[in-house]
Amino acid sequence: MIRKYTMGSPVTTDAVVMDIPAENMEGYPFANRTEDGKFIFSFALGDDEIVYGLGEAPRGINKRGWIYRSWCSDDPFHTETKQALYAAHNFLIHGTCGIFIDYPSEIIWDIGYTHPDEVIITIEGPDFDIYLISGDSPIQIVREFRGLTGQAYIPPFWAFGYQQSRWSYHNAEAVRNIIRKYDEASIPLDCVYLDIDYMERFKNFTINRETFPDFEQLVSEMKEKNIHLIPIIDAGVKKEEGYPVYEEGKEKRYFCRTEDGSDFEGGVWPGIVGFPDFLRPEVRAWFGEQYRFLTDMGIDGFWNDMNEPAIFYSVRGLENALEEAGKLRGQNLDLGKFFYLKNVFSELSNNMEDYASITHEADGRTVSHMAVHNLYGANMTRAAGEFFEKEFGREKILMFSRASYIGAHRYGGIWFGDNHSWWSHILLSLKMLVNANMCGFLYCGADLGGFNENATEDLVLRFLALGVFTPLMRNHSAMGTRDQECFSFDHTDAFRDVVLVRYRLIPYLYDTFRKAAETNDMMFRPLSFDYPDDPLARECETQLMLGEECMIAPVYEQNVRGRTVYLPEDMTFVKLSGEHIVKEPLSKGLHYVRVGLNEVPLFIKKGKTIPLCQSAMRTAQLKPEQVTWI
Ligand code: GLC
Repeated sequence: MIRKYTMGSPVTTDAVVMDIPAENMEGYPFANRTEDGKFIFSFALGDDEIVYGLGEAPRGINKRGWIYRSWCSDDPFHTETKQALYAAHNFLIHGTCGIFIDYPSEIIWDIGYTHPDEVIITIEGPDFDIYLISGDSPIQIVREFRGLTGQAYIPPFWAFGYQQSRWSYHNAEAVRNIIRKYDEASIPLDCVYLDIDYMERFKNFTINRETFPDFEQLVSEMKEKNIHLIPIIDAGVKKEEGYPVYEEGKEKRYFCRTEDGSDFEGGVWPGIVGFPDFLRPEVRAWFGEQYRFLTDMGIDGFWNDMNEPAIFYSVRGLENALEEAGKLRGQNLDLGKFFYLKNVFSELSNNMEDYASITHEADGRTVSHMAVHNLYGANMTRAAGEFFEKEFGREKILMFSRASYIGAHRYGGIWFGDNHSWWSHILLSLKMLVNANMCGFLYCGADLGGFNENATEDLVLRFLALGVFTPLMRNHSAMGTRDQECFSFDHTDAFRDVVLVRYRLIPYLYDTFRKAAETNDMMFRPLSFDYPDDPLARECETQLMLGEECMIAPVYEQNVRGRTVYLPEDMTFVKLSGEHIVKEPLSKGLHYVRVGLNEVPLFIKKGKTIPLCQSAMRTAQLKPEQVTWI
């Protein structure tokens, strides 16, 4: 059962698809108080209660014991003391109650941080909708919530293939080389990514003709090989005379403005850009139409980036900083002055004063960016998604985004942003998977091998062994980091063994994904959802249930040959490696299982079977109808 309460006059977010009459806030069951225009409410937590939700956020599956912030943030250091990442997924479950706060500005979720047994939620402004969802179990609450917010995006089948990315494959030859090396190593591959360098000086919807002279030819050559090229699109449009996208956007007044009515100007990769006001339907239609430049060339997949929006500096901020620096020139900088100067520059990026100076048009009125910040990236995804659906129909174009808000899950997936080549980030991505699933983001995954800093062979292999199960299986890394493609290390065979397993599992994974999308269900669940009365299952933060049949438990530490795993019931432990399968029945309880670097561990429940097909070098060559069952 869902009840809706409305406070003030909320801006339209289109997060929900059901029309539920709002009740008066007076009847809202939790004690609440308003201070300085904020809305604060709290409730007690029982000793043993688990709190789930918040989608793509730091820390555990159980969100207890930390303070989180809904504020889409471009932050490349996903350490455990962070409060916010790229998304704002305002859905929480505790006990038999789900709460969705449809409010696109800042919310602080103090979940047992100030007081271990209390949740204190602070909504920064007075205009929002709250949905209370009651149900007998967490999964029932999730299904109700997902019905409320609409069916999750389903990508094309080939988007379940293995994908290789790097910032950047700089030219057509580099791209060809990647595919050649994968083919030579007999490692399957379906997609190669084009990061910002394929563009002419980082301008959206352009091609760098020096490095990709015959882009169209490259795309069709790749098509012949059943390889999809996936270019990046950034939120900002470079300010440049004669650049048609910018000129048109400017002339039609499609960019976000400042309070004085002039276009807001911020610096990102290309230098100064205009930020399309994606909250306006006509701007979404216009920006969506721009993708045609690439779809006309045969491109059928995209990733939308920098859409929190990330702003390196504003023109105003940079001027001030340079002025401050000028004042200190020639001075003997002591501790205070030096760090002041340092901060002046480090605070230039994603600066709150800059965000506060931006305005949008929403619901026919001018609103401050501060009031709608978390909708920006979501509406960029929507712009693309609406264009793709109108032009090509559903399930034809791959689309995923960095920033998101609930509602955007109907138009695309997400990736978990700029993680690190850290062992701890294997588990972080596992934890995000379930909470993102609750919020409707089913097509998701982390940068396998880690984005920032150098990876080691064993880290990439263990990361991939988890990635075998994530709908988005993409290896991506940052500029200047060590190569981490599957052929870059000593034991190419081990990489082949792991990626082949993915292809054998694709029919099962695709089916499980599709079922979850179509029935508003989760593909991955915490063990506690399935075994609510089992104390060890309830506390498990390193294993997940997959579909109705399986449990996954990746190895997530270096220099170990396996891990301890908890079986909440008797299961068959299966190790998959290339075409090899080793099976061992294990009884309920704790076990230490050995897993080689070239093996993918999987646990199948008693009485369940899963299909495996023959592996192939591309998804297009798979024969999902010819399967064997384990
Ligand atoms: C951002 C993205 C990353 C990309 C880089 C360059 O950091 O999150 O994936 O490689 O920008 O475009």
